[in-house]
Amino acid sequence: MKPILTFLALASIGAAAPNIQSTQDGASKRAAWPNGPFVTWGRWIHDASGKNLTYAGTNWPGHADVMIPEGLQYQSIETIVQKVKSLGMNAIRLTFAIQMVDEIYANGGNDITIQKAFVQALGQTNGTRVLNQVLAKNPLFNASTTRLQVFDAVAEELHRQQIYLHLDNHISKGMWCCSSTDGNSWWGDTYFSTANWVRGLSYMANHGKSWPALTSLGLRNEPREPTNNPALSRSSYNWQAWYTFMRQGAAAVHAANPAPLIFLSGLNFDTYLTPVVQGTALTPGTGRFSVTDFEGYADKLVLELHNYENGIGSCDTLKGNLDRNGFQALQQGSSGVVNVFPVMMTEFGFAMDSSTWRGVYASCLAEYLPALKAGWTIWVLAGSYYVRSGIQDYDEDWGLLNHDWSAWRSQGYVDGALRGLVRETLS
Ligand SMILES: *[C@@H]1O[C@H](CO)[C@@H](O)[C@H](O)[C@H]1NC(C)=O
Ligand SMILES: *[C@@H]1O[C@H](CO)[C@@H](O)[C@H](O)[C@H]1NC(C)=O
Ligand SMILES: *[C@@H]1O[C@H](CO)[C@@H](O)[C@H](O)[C@H]1NC(C)=O
Repeated sequence: MKPILTFLALASIGAAAPNIQSTQDGASKRAAWPNGPFVTWGRWIHDASGKNLTYAGTNWPGHADVMIPEGLQYQSIETIVQKVKSLGMNAIRLTFAIQMVDEIYANGGNDITIQKAFVQALGQTNGTRVLNQVLAKNPLFNASTTRLQVFDAVAEELHRQQIYLHLDNHISKGMWCCSSTDGNSWWGDTYFSTANWVRGLSYMANHGKSWPALTSLGLRNEPREPTNNPALSRSSYNWQAWYTFMRQGAAAVHAANPAPLIFLSGLNFDTYLTPVVQGTALTPGTGRFSVTDFEGYADKLVLELHNYENGIGSCDTLKGNLDRNGFQALQQGSSGVVNVFPVMMTEFGFAMDSSTWRGVYASCLAEYLPALKAGWTIWVLAGSYYVRSGIQDYDEDWGLLNHDWSAWRSQGYVDGALRGLVRETLS
C-alpha cells in the first residue's frame, strides 16, 4: 500500500521543531521540549499547551538477559536514535526488567557494571569481546559504567533528538519475552513477585525524574495466563485481580513521579481491554473500572494493546477485532463505550522482508491506526540481540534494522509504507 502524500502531511514533519507558543500577554516564548507533563483529555493526549499529540515510534528492547539496551556493540546510541528520527518517528518504547532494579537493591543501591552484566549473560570470552565492541562504538562508556547509566545515556540522547521516551516494564527476570510458561506471566508467578514489581516501578519512575524525555511509563507488558501454574491461574488470572494490581502499580508510579502518563495493558498478552472500555463487571467480581479509583491522576491513564493477528485474511475482521478489543475507546459516542481513553498499539510487527508489509495484516494496520489517530510503536527496532533464548548475536528478522543495526532491513517497507504511516499518524 502506497500512502498518498499531501502537502499538509509533509508540513507536519516539521513538528519536531521546538514549540513556539504565544502566552496570554502576546509575548512569544520557547516551550521546552517535550512541553510536558502530558495529560489525557478524553481520547486525546495533551501537552502542557493543550495541543493534541500521539506517538509514532518503535520498541527498543533493554529487558533481555544482559539488561542493557540492545545493539550498542554495533552502533552508537546517537546513530541509532538518528535512524529513528530519520523516519519522522517521535517515540521510543524502551523496555526494562525488574531484575535490574532487584540487583541494584541487592548491591547496596548501586547498579552492576556493564562489564559484569555482559560477562554474566554471555560468558567470560564473549562477554568481554562484546563489552569491548560496545566501548569502541560508544566511547562515552567504560567498563565500570553501569546498566542504569546506559539507560541514562539513551534517555539523554532521546531528549537531545526530541523523541518521547516511554519506559516499559517488560518482564521481571531479564530474558526474552513472552510465553505463558516463562515464570513471568502473572503476578505471583515464579519470577513475578508483586512486591518487587511495585518496588521496581517506583524506583524507575523516581529515577526517571532525571530524564526530561520521559513522558510515559507502561506498568507491565503482556499480562497472560500462567498456564503451567493452574493454581495461580484459577485463583487470580482474572479482571478483578488485574484491577487490584494495576491500581497498585499506578499508585506507586504516580507517588514516585507524578509527571508521566501511565499505560495499562490488558489480559491474554495485552490483546484486549474490553471490560475496561465497556465498563462491564471485572469478573469474577461485580466491581467496574472507575476513574474515581485513580483519585488525583485520572487524567494520566492511557490504554495500550498489542496485536499479532498476522495471519488474518480480512481487514474488516481485523478492524472489528481491534474495535472490540479496546480501540473503540477512541471513538467517542461509539455504542458500548463507557470509558473513553487514548489507546495505543504499543506492539505489532511482522517479518521485514520484501513482501510481508504488502499483506492484509500490515496494510490494514497502516490504514486503521492513522485513520483513528491511534498512537503506536512497532516491534521492533532491533536488528539483533546480544542473546535471545540462549542464542548469542541472535538475528531478528522482524527488526526494522539489519543485523548490525546499520541500515533498514526492508527498505521497501520503510519507503513504501512506514514513513507514510508515521506521517499520517502525526499529521
Ligand atoms: C484535538 O483534536 C480534536 C479532534 O480532531 C479536536 O476537536 C480538538 O479541537 C483538538 N484540540 C486541539 C487543541 O487542537
Ligand atoms: C560466542 O560468540 C561466537 C561468535 O558470535 C559464537 O559463535 C558462539 O556461539 C558464542 N558462544 C556462546 C557460548 O554462545
Ligand atoms: C565511566 O563512565 C561513567 C559514565 O558512563 C562515568 O560516570 C565514570 O566516571 C567513568 N569512569 C571512569 C573510570 O572513567
